[in-house]
Amino acid sequence: MTEQYILAFETSCDETSVAVLKNGQELLSNVIASQIESHKRFGGVVPEVASRHHVEVITACINEALAEAEITPSDLTAVAVTEGPGLVGALLVGVAAAKAFAWANHLPLVPVNHMAGHLWAARQVKPLDFPLMALLVSGGHTELVYVAAPGDYKIIGETRDDAVGEAYDKVGRVMNLTYPAGKEIDALAHQGQDVFNFPRAMMKHDDPALEFSFSGLKSAFINTVHNAEQKGQTLDKKDLSASFQAAVMDVLMAKTKTALQQFPVKMLVVAGGVAANHGLRERLAAEITDIDVVIPPLRLCGDNAGMIAYASVCEYNQGHLAGLDLNARPSLSFETLD
Ligand code: KG4
Ligand code: ZN
Repeated sequence: MTEQYILAFETSCDETSVAVLKNGQELLSNVIASQIESHKRFGGVVPEVASRHHVEVITACINEALAEAEITPSDLTAVAVTEGPGLVGALLVGVAAAKAFAWANHLPLVPVNHMAGHLWAARQVKPLDFPLMALLVSGGHTELVYVAAPGDYKIIGETRDDAVGEAYDKVGRVMNLTYPAGKEIDALAHQGQDVFNFPRAMMKHDDPALEFSFSGLKSAFINTVHNAEQKGQTLDKKDLSASFQAAVMDVLMAKTKTALQQFPVKMLVVAGGVAANHGLRERLAAEITDIDVVIPPLRLCGDNAGMIAYASVCEYNQGHLAGLDLNARPSLSFETLD
């Protein structure tokens, strides 16, 4: 049997990453160059800065990924790349690099949806079983996706406003935490109590059962902090974090359980940057016991090219290839029609 080696690129936001995947399951390398240090002082990702960093490090990332995997370009079967969603200028660097590499080495080019990448990171744990339900929670997206078969994605519920990760980062800023604040709030939450009882949105009987909303929670949090400041009080960050996290997790758990009731599936995948959250992992383990719950390991929850490589396998097998006219698609969704 000839071996299959895929070289994958991910540059949709603030991580430049290149990976090599062998035979759809063995991640031989997954080089991740983070730009977080450059964006921290701005409290968020500056698109222009992100693009420049990608250009600076992408060639070194390719060389390192190949070297670590101990292969040469002639061993490769295909090149995969995130085409969207993400920042247009950032995506374009990966797309241009992948196209150039594929052209120079006469390799097929496989375009990949970034959110499908987050989902397929779970393949690192075990083979995925279909149909499956995915709760995808990242800095830009919060969605429940029904996956009938590999490559067949249907969004059955999503956020109407802020994504979960975005809400974490925004309330983190109010508490003067450094960006991105999710991990620190998670740690603080474990040392505090849910004393503020922030609103759990979209949970009333006549609300859409699978839709999310986090902007009201964010506003309630900010108002609570500002009102206290006006009275000269400083609230305990541990209790604020615990209260915020409890409100988020109550909603995520309730919606996920409803989705599982409405759509019988063989597996639940929870993925994306916020899937690194320990509070979420604890609640999933305690409350969803009648179905297999698969969460990627921590290093594959944030953006990385390994997850893009995993997602590219079913696209490649189904012949979903791109030409050298491939462009970045910043607003790409599972629902986007070709
Ligand atoms: O998936 P990701 O790396 O990038 C996007 O595609 O958006 O997600 C980044 C998001 C950030 O908002 C970050 O604060 C959040 O994931 N995050 C967390 C945790 N670790 C990262 N949120 C909550 N708890 C965590 N432990
Ligand atoms: Zn992401």
